Amino acid sequence: MDLMAAIWTQTACSEREHYQGERGSKPVFNKIKPDVEFYLHYCDTIQHLRSFAGYTVQFMVLIIMLLKVALRKILNRTALKAVTAGAALLSGLAAAQPADPEEVTRGAYLARAGDCVACHTAGPDSPQFAGGLPLDSPFGIIYSSNITPDPQTGIGKYTLNDFSRAVRDGIAKDGSRLYPAMPYPSFTAITDADIRALYAYFMNKVEPVSYNPPETKLPFPFNIRLSLVFWDFAFVKHERFKPHDDSDAQWNRGAYLVQSLGHCGACHTPRGLAFQEKAYTESSPVYLSGALVDNWFSANLRGDSASGLGRWSEADIAALLETGHGAQAATFGSMTDVIKNSTQYLHKDDLNAIAHYLKTLPPHGEKSAYRPDAPALDRELAAIVSGEVELPGAGLFQSFCAKCHKITGSGEPGKYPKLAGNSIVLSENPASLIRLLLKGSLTAETNSSPEVQKMPGFAEKFSDRQIADVLSFIRKSWGNSASPVTDREVTLLRQALKKKP
Ligand code: HEC
Ligand code: HEC
Ligand code: HEC
Repeated sequence: MDLMAAIWTQTACSEREHYQGERGSKPVFNKIKPDVEFYLHYCDTIQHLRSFAGYTVQFMVLIIMLLKVALRKILNRTALKAVTAGAALLSGLAAAQPADPEEVTRGAYLARAGDCVACHTAGPDSPQFAGGLPLDSPFGIIYSSNITPDPQTGIGKYTLNDFSRAVRDGIAKDGSRLYPAMPYPSFTAITDADIRALYAYFMNKVEPVSYNPPETKLPFPFNIRLSLVFWDFAFVKHERFKPHDDSDAQWNRGAYLVQSLGHCGACHTPRGLAFQEKAYTESSPVYLSGALVDNWFSANLRGDSASGLGRWSEADIAALLETGHGAQAATFGSMTDVIKNSTQYLHKDDLNAIAHYLKTLPPHGEKSAYRPDAPALDRELAAIVSGEVELPGAGLFQSFCAKCHKITGSGEPGKYPKLAGNSIVLSENPASLIRLLLKGSLTAETNSSPEVQKMPGFAEKFSDRQIADVLSFIRKSWGNSASPVTDREVTLLRQALKKKP
């Protein structure tokens, strides 16, 4: 390709992007060059090649990383253990025994704690546990399996060992590997007694449903399930939960629930390049420090005082997990479903244990701060009331938000969340805030808080600039101090939500 052609390709591509963006047409080319169709075609081809090349490079990086981690493991001589984990660790399990009603009841409770219903039910009107829910992963859509005891389409023919291998080791009965969209890297910590109870529940209490969920079809190379052997080898420890002798029983119970069945880290722990959770226990400072999942930012659950749970009491956390409301906030986004399907059913002791455990995680290190101080508060109030120009967003807040959240940012207990000192408002990553403002939200509907409150969406009413302004305003008012939100961030999230609502 000669230099001129290269320059023309560049021009054709960038001009087309520009004009398609503006009007969806390409009249400008006709003025520039008569054989523009040729260049357009050329542009398409080059772009295809480019994206293919990018994809291949990404894949290569992934493989190299996996090999590196695997090699390190072999050198540490832990490799053999990991490979044989599936078989060896299970040998301690007896085969299925006649159902003990108490065990079945405990299994039902554990299935709640593991939120199996959320991923294994296709929708509100679909049969429970029959699978078919499409789960979004960076590699494509993965459909959940039918885990009712139907012998043909479900897990009816699974022995206790088969069930345990699937849930704790990510290997289906036919030997094929499960995608980690099934949170088996967390479930691997489930104790033998609990896996037995879960099995007893699924086999004896769940209605068999004959239904074949749609087949998962990921693009090459992710369609090769065998390649997951490497992924698993590199990133999953296959260790059952081991209580810490130097911690009390409540801490150990909380740690167990959070790390294993609760799989809180699947949303709250940042992921690495290969989509692996960067940590599965408190031994790492990034564990539960917050992560972007499906365009929601799952909050930082560590001890950071502004953007984490540093100022929350154990009672606040337990209340939030039970009712969807806490002294500090109301939940929204994907956390609403976690509360609705799972945590609201947990016993008080277990909720307190989870809260107790979370409160022992040290801060991750944050830039946000909360410093309620009276003079600054007065200045902001005055600015809101007078609609002062120096504070963009203040006027919008007064007109559109103060009705519910109040001029002082105090909200209304149990109804409208407080914005002053709110850890979500102070979150380092504003994605959840932007998405909430654009789309609005409903509070979690729970047995203890059946009345649902609505936060309206402002996608139609506000420009990107206005959303950024009003969010930047609440992030630095009433003692809040967090980085401003830019209109570019709002634009990008709006686009992302158009592609994947
Ligand atoms: C975050 C979503 C999610 C949760 C929560 C979840 N699963 Fe899954 N599960 C999946 C997906 C997706 C698959 C299919 C993976 C695949 O096709 O590779 C799956 C597969 C399985 C399988 C394998 C079935 C087979 O074909 O062999 C079993 C068994 C299973 N899950 C049981 C459970 C149990 C029990 C729980 C609760 C303790 C649970 N799952 C919670 C997403 C989830
Ligand atoms: C499906 C993803 C998902 C899972 C699983 C999940 N969370 Fe969340 N969580 C979120 C999102 C998103 C938010 C931010 C929105 C909000 O605050 O409601 C959040 C917020 C929270 C908050 C409020 C934090 C704050 O600063 O307001 C707490 C507490 C919490 N989660 C605890 C848990 C615990 C404990 C578990 C495990 C039992 C868990 N979460 C599992 C997605 C998830
Ligand atoms: C009709 C009452 C109402 C109005 C008006 C309203 N909100 Fe909300 N807002 C709510 C409710 C209810 C929630 C809780 C939503 C949930 O939990 O799903 C909420 C949640 C929030 C949150 C998340 C806090 C948390 O802990 O959940 C922020 C931030 C927020 N609103 C900002 C705003 C801004 C900025 C405006 C104006 C542009 C606004 N709201 C207008 C009712 C309202």
